[in-house]
Amino acid sequence: MKIAVILGTRPEIVKMSPVVRSCLERSVDFSIIHTGQHYSYEMDRIFFCELELPDATYNLEVGSGTHGAQTARMLTGLEQILLEDPHDVVLVQGDTNTVLAGALAAAKLGVPLGHVEAGLRSYDRSMPEEINRVVADHLSDFLFAPTEMAAHNLRKEGRPDSGIFVTGNTVVDAVLQNISLAAEDESIFSRLGIEKGEYILVTAHRQENVDRQENLSDILKGIELVGNEFGVTVLYPIHPRTKKMIERFNLRIPDNLRLLEPLGYFEFLLLEASAQLVLTDSGGIQEECCILKTPCVTMRKNTERPETVVAGGNILAGTDPEAILSAARTMVLRPRTWENPFGDGRSGDRIVRHLKEIIDPTKRRIHYC
Ligand code: UD1
Ligand code: UDP
Repeated sequence: MKIAVILGTRPEIVKMSPVVRSCLERSVDFSIIHTGQHYSYEMDRIFFCELELPDATYNLEVGSGTHGAQTARMLTGLEQILLEDPHDVVLVQGDTNTVLAGALAAAKLGVPLGHVEAGLRSYDRSMPEEINRVVADHLSDFLFAPTEMAAHNLRKEGRPDSGIFVTGNTVVDAVLQNISLAAEDESIFSRLGIEKGEYILVTAHRQENVDRQENLSDILKGIELVGNEFGVTVLYPIHPRTKKMIERFNLRIPDNLRLLEPLGYFEFLLLEASAQLVLTDSGGIQEECCILKTPCVTMRKNTERPETVVAGGNILAGTDPEAILSAARTMVLRPRTWENPFGDGRSGDRIVRHLKEIIDPTKRRIHYC
């Protein structure tokens, strides 16, 4: 069996790493096909180094662009690779444009398709990610749902039970595999001059938040209010999209906010694990906070990760500054007793084992043009 592991962005590299690790341990043949959606060293290469991933077999180097242009470049490149180098199954992870292109390429060629992190729904079609994940789920043969809630969403949409596998989320594997490695070098704390538990960590990059001036300005005000109230350093390793939009809108950075370059996975995990509070709009960070028992306030009005809210580790605040402050006050007082709803940290291996059982390489399907 030969698996095509398609990835292209920071969170996909992190969350596919346990699948790759399992392939290596089980001597399963695979290629990493990188679309090049993320390409800056601190959004891409650093994760391959830290997670000790083999270099991508292919890199399409599509770079940035509008949704249509970027996805089209990926689709053309992926189709060509899958035609020239046949694989028995394609795996995509999450909800990015890379996932959309990978799913379309595989489905049109008739290559069996597996979706890791299937069944998440925000029920908000104004998010590009919601469109990508719905399309991927409806094209996939194998739906690796992280939780029963996600599996339920898939069944509600008529996806057949026989193709749904509740595996847990590979984000847990990644955290457990790397948190002690990360702790071998804690120099980030002295370098930033901060004490554990005495800072707030922020990330925000969602298109619907940062590409709208009003929303981005509100988020910055909310962060300022929280920083003032708690009187601690607020750290913000800033996503390149957000940096670009702050410059474009010429927004003022609050005095109590320290902007940093995007961090590698190890340093980010360390900061996340010891933060007093995290303010974010990231999907993966909502999950990681829940796993690490760090209080999280999500600066969105909905989430495709409701498990984190039900567990008690996350509150949805939207982008209103006062609502962000109020949610922050609530979260820091909440006892950190919630359970991790995303599984036991063996999801990557479970996915590879399922594929080994299901895929019959003698029946390789490819619809040649
Ligand atoms: C993408 C995903 C989003 C995911 C995020 C993870 C889509 C639709 N969005 O959003 O779901 O949460 O990745 O971080 O797929 N840029 C760089 N260097 C890079 C990559 C991007 O400078 O390596 C800048 C460019 O100015 C680019 C902008 O960031 O235009 C946005 O990049 P893009 O990949 O289009 O979307 P993300 O916001 O990263
Ligand atoms: N992350 C990181 N450095 C940072 C910010 C995030 O290593 O400066 C990691 C984080 O630990 C998580 C992933 O990147 O594993 C989340 O990526 P992001 O928030 O960009 O995407 P999303 O999960 O929202 O799709």
